[in-house]
Amino acid sequence: MKVKAFLCFVFLLLVPLCGTSAGSSMENLEAKNHWNRLNERPPLRSTQGSTMENLIDVSSFSIPNPFKKKDKPLPFAIPNPFKKKDMKPLPIETLFKLPSLLPSWPQGEGFASGIIDLGGLQVCQLSTFSKVWATREGGPDNLGATFFEPSSVPDGFSLLGFYSQSNNRPLSGWVLAGKDAKKEGALKEPIDYTLVWSSQSLKIKQDGVGYIWLPTPPDGYKAVGHIVTSSPEKPALNKILCVRSDFTDSSENDAWIWGAGNDINVYSTIPSVRGIQAMGIPTGTFIAQTNGAAGSTLACLKNAKANKTALPNSNQVKALIQAYSPRIYFHPDENYFPSSVTWFFKNGALLYTKGQESNPVAINSTGSNLPSGGGNDGAYWIDLPIDDAEKERVKKGDLQDANAYLQVKPMFGATFTDIAVWIFYPFNGPAKAKVEFFDVYLGKVGEHVGDWEHVTLRISNFNGELKGVYFSQHNKGVWMDASELEFENGNKPVAYSSLHGHASYPKPGLVLLGNGNIGIRGDTAKGKIFLDTGEKFSVVNADYMGSVYEEPPWLNYARKWGPKLSYKIEDEIKSVDKVLPGKLQTKFDNFVWSLPKEVLGEDGPIGPKVKASWLGDEINLQN
Ligand SMILES: *[C@@H]1O[C@H](CO)[C@@H](O)[C@H](O)[C@H]1NC(C)=O
Ligand SMILES: *[C@@H]1O[C@H](CO)[C@@H](O)[C@H](O)[C@H]1NC(C)=O
Repeated sequence: MKVKAFLCFVFLLLVPLCGTSAGSSMENLEAKNHWNRLNERPPLRSTQGSTMENLIDVSSFSIPNPFKKKDKPLPFAIPNPFKKKDMKPLPIETLFKLPSLLPSWPQGEGFASGIIDLGGLQVCQLSTFSKVWATREGGPDNLGATFFEPSSVPDGFSLLGFYSQSNNRPLSGWVLAGKDAKKEGALKEPIDYTLVWSSQSLKIKQDGVGYIWLPTPPDGYKAVGHIVTSSPEKPALNKILCVRSDFTDSSENDAWIWGAGNDINVYSTIPSVRGIQAMGIPTGTFIAQTNGAAGSTLACLKNAKANKTALPNSNQVKALIQAYSPRIYFHPDENYFPSSVTWFFKNGALLYTKGQESNPVAINSTGSNLPSGGGNDGAYWIDLPIDDAEKERVKKGDLQDANAYLQVKPMFGATFTDIAVWIFYPFNGPAKAKVEFFDVYLGKVGEHVGDWEHVTLRISNFNGELKGVYFSQHNKGVWMDASELEFENGNKPVAYSSLHGHASYPKPGLVLLGNGNIGIRGDTAKGKIFLDTGEKFSVVNADYMGSVYEEPPWLNYARKWGPKLSYKIEDEIKSVDKVLPGKLQTKFDNFVWSLPKEVLGEDGPIGPKVKASWLGDEINLQN
């Protein structure tokens, strides 16, 4: 045991960041539940990112000794390599950059031109900051947060709010600055500031004292951001401007940035109404709330004239896909791969009509004989071929033939572009559960025909930069900031498809859907086999471009891609119970019955266009 600890320690010395990923076995991750695992930040990955030395006063960070926390002294005397320099940098001290330079985007209208016109109010994205104040505890991973003043403001533009970020990941944010392009009073100075909170009486590790101010807007205007100072004097009135109400929309809290109990909590913000038609625009700033205060007092921006000129044209979309097409890795034990929809139809998929179950029909290669429109009413469904051998063959899919189906959609008042990358798997294999120390296959539970999965790229229309990726997991999912992603082959983000279930994850390992002792296993690993979604793809929908892309007929099939449950959950549970010790049986039964029905596979899945994310935003589990 001691030898092992010693070796691990030596390994840690050699590879300071190996911590969780290299040093420990996957099994160690099992104790964490699903959501904990997702909120865990990966270790610093961006070695290419430059340090922030000139912007952050690095010398003023005093980094806690990583070994000190453990209380117990080490059982052997080896000089602590961190102690001497006391310098393990905080993740935020690294400036995140995508691994490769951005390509020069093809010619177009307003895409990647740096400035977006919201109908008289022009906005641009600022991402260089100078540090104003930092805390070194509290917030995610208890590493504190840093508050910044945006710098390098272009001529004619004014600040609308400051920036704040948790210290536990590389600096990767942006805020919007505004310019009253038509000189029609889109922006105005606040008439005063009120002090929302100061860190003066807070006994935490911090650099100096921070003061957070809220601008008091003139009539007809709204504050969209806070200002932070390191001294108690009120900031100058022209330091940040307020925005005329018609250029604002309501916002809500997004991710938790930092907090000290109920006293103060800081969140990023996001428009309350989101979707392809919604015009609210995130400002990139933060909101500070005291005493557990609910009601948000900051607005976000709004594309008042629904100006869509910043969206990418078809050449630019092609270039974006070339730059960022995700690579999807499959588990080494995977045997149910994706295929194209056409392959599925041509290889014997059948359309069933309710009431005529004995008379299924073959489906045309484009799905032109599928019923279109109508709701998810159970009147029709698709199933595998009847012949057993054929059925097993089709279940396995055909990776060579797999195709990515892309929806390109405006987001946040057309200041962002989301590219949803949909993958079709003919079959979702059986689930495996972990019940304390037992791994059990759940029989038919979790199995279903016709499995639609997606990851979504979120791209800034100011410069074409990838800002985040969404990983869909059982009808919900998580957004990860670009700084938290793994990249390959330039700027292509990596996604891991879980064994049999095909949920998408940003990191390999085990994720347990459930709690620490009992749950559905989501196993992901970097096998040899991956799908580069940029190699074979078709854009199936980009409504804002009119009829540039033709929708395949199958896209308008609104019914289920697989039949309804053909087994009794009770029977499957009973057969699992037989292999479990008595005291675990009830626990296991209760757990299975508590699972959402999309996890149980009780219902055949519906296609991309019928999912809520087609017109709306993705469902984020992280907050
Ligand atoms: C839309 O934005 C473009 C710049 O991309 C600008 O030239 C045009 O005037 C704007 N239209 C409206 C209605 O504001
Ligand atoms: C599609 O299938 C229908 C009936 O199953 C058939 O009448 C039609 O000709 C087929 N169309 C194509 C393009 O194959």
